[in-house]
Amino acid sequence: QALGIKALAFRRYSEALGELSELSDLIQQCLADGKTFRREQTEHITPDGSHRELGVTISPIRRAQEKATGAICLLSDLTELTALQKQMQLRENLAALGELSAGIAHEFKNALATISGYAQMIQSEPNAADTVENAKKILDQTRSITHVVTEFLRYARPLEISEEPVELRVLLDRTVCEILELQPQVRISIEGNFSAIAGDEGLLRQVFLNLARNAAEAAASNSPNPAVILRGETSESSEDRTQRIRILDNGPGIPIEALAKLFRPFFTTKVNGTGLGLAVVQKILLQHGGQVEAQNRVGGGAEFIVTLPATRTISQAVESKEVTI
Ligand SMILES: Nc1ncnc2c1ncn2[C@@H]1O[C@H](COP(=O)(O)OP(=O)(O)OP(=O)(O)O)[C@@H](O)[C@H]1O
Ligand SMILES: [Mg+2]
Repeated sequence: QALGIKALAFRRYSEALGELSELSDLIQQCLADGKTFRREQTEHITPDGSHRELGVTISPIRRAQEKATGAICLLSDLTELTALQKQMQLRENLAALGELSAGIAHEFKNALATISGYAQMIQSEPNAADTVENAKKILDQTRSITHVVTEFLRYARPLEISEEPVELRVLLDRTVCEILELQPQVRISIEGNFSAIAGDEGLLRQVFLNLARNAAEAAASNSPNPAVILRGETSESSEDRTQRIRILDNGPGIPIEALAKLFRPFFTTKVNGTGLGLAVVQKILLQHGGQVEAQNRVGGGAEFIVTLPATRTISQAVESKEVTI
């Protein structure tokens, strides 16, 4: 029934299933090499031409070490289940798109309401003293909405990353200077080991600016002694070197219900936040073959962990060469 074949008796499997069918191929491999296939999924075309998704388990029948004399095939028809899975994936994509559009619409509606409010005030009292002030508020709102669009496009557009050696320590020093201009009361320190990364300096700068700014904002909102630490850890296995950067703060930490939503575009708990910072961070890191995770620290505060594939720095390459000599 699953195969859409009415009579199987006394027919060769390849004749019943068709020489070119994937299933025939699996059975042939099982009979020739004694290979077992467990929970494979293959597409099968029935004699009347319809497509079926089949779950397949094939085991050889043989005595001791002898060659296989037959094969047992367990088939299950997964056609409906696969169609349902595809439909669900499509629905999830649509839901994500809906959430995104709602986020953009929300930002635009807020800014437009403010803009039209101030424009109406100017219109009703064209010569009032606060015209200049109102015009300034209109400009502020248009700037903020331009920022949302720019950040969103940065998130939505395919990224083109350049592969240049980036000295992480230097990049982080510069990031700290920029954050201190915005949050001078926060103590920001850099510690641990850093190596060079092959990647796009401008985009990686964006990553650490966003993460360090979030950490400094969180620390400043909560602690009498706001502090942020950027900690570097390098690890090496036989195949690759990994650079980890932990961004630790002593702010209020992340509410449990927010943890799963942090990296979604437009998720924000801040009055003036766009909620695009972490979405952009995640996208850039994925493009660099890295990742970012968030968790709360045991003693309070939040911790963001960035993992990136690292390259050998020139000095390290020389050091290891000296050792081998
Ligand atoms: N270090 C942190 N401690 C606690 N919560 C954080 C921290 N970093 C991020 N969050 C939470 O994650 C949310 C999303 O962060 P994200 O950087 O994406 O947007 P934002 O900071 O709100 O806005 P924007 O980056 O546009 O200014 C924040 O609003 C905040 O609730
Ligand atoms: Mg942010």
